[in-house]
Amino acid sequence: MTARIIDGKALSGKVRAEVAQRVHALQKHGVTPGLAVVLVGENPASQVYVRNKAAACEAAGMLSRVISLGEDTPEEELLNVIEALNADPAIHGILVQLPLPGHIDTGLVIETISATKDVDGFHVSNAGLLMTGRPLFRPCTPYGVMKMLESENVPLRGAEAVVVGASNIVGKPMAMLLLAAGATVTICNSKTRDLGAQTRRADVLVVATGKPGMIQGDMIKPGAVVIDVGINRLESGKLTGDVDFDAAAQVAAAITPVPGGVGPMTIAMLLVNTLEAAERSLRT
Ligand code: GUN
Repeated sequence: MTARIIDGKALSGKVRAEVAQRVHALQKHGVTPGLAVVLVGENPASQVYVRNKAAACEAAGMLSRVISLGEDTPEEELLNVIEALNADPAIHGILVQLPLPGHIDTGLVIETISATKDVDGFHVSNAGLLMTGRPLFRPCTPYGVMKMLESENVPLRGAEAVVVGASNIVGKPMAMLLLAAGATVTICNSKTRDLGAQTRRADVLVVATGKPGMIQGDMIKPGAVVIDVGINRLESGKLTGDVDFDAAAQVAAAITPVPGGVGPMTIAMLLVNTLEAAERSLRT
């Protein structure tokens, strides 16, 4: 079998075009969605992500404000910046790029963002709402994965879904969204015994470990849908996922490439979350 390639770049373009249309409609009511992205320090990967997020925002007709702070910025100063953004009516979404420098308490920073502007969906209130089936903001990466599965008409009710990786950003919210869609969900972590025995049961396999080559071809059930969330830069400079793509593509029914799979969807869903925050601001 040679797997169908799930084109995240094409789907994200479609989502972004729909967002741009809705932004246009909202502007007729005098509201332009505004996203503030806060970057602390000079992590080169983070700088690229922040630039891409700001550019995508502007391309969709939204207001983007990037706030770059030095590596040594005191925690209190960052919290003050967030409080000011919470109170700013032009800003509907706030995203603090992670990871933060070690002297800053990431949990405290996220909890300081107003839950109604937390377009990353990382605030404990938003995690709790998602867990109890009343999501306000869905974290962008798992939300993008759900959009891909939906666009591919992948049946989820009663399906065996296995999520490898249990982070707050991807694995845990991913499991909640799959569960809400009716899948039987297994979450694997770095301590899971016989990972292959788990992954081989998966009709839908989502991998988010940050370890290239984590999933080999013989760990995949024939006909499975494989979603690779990993983005790893090899020493050669090449980008690769967590799944051995060539081997997996011989076994799976459908698979996401890296790059061009989940990555572009994350940004598209950030725009969706920001747009929806702005639409909600009209209603309140
Ligand atoms: N760092 C890596 N992924 C993310 C993300 O989705 N949001 C934020 N804020 N930081 C990240």
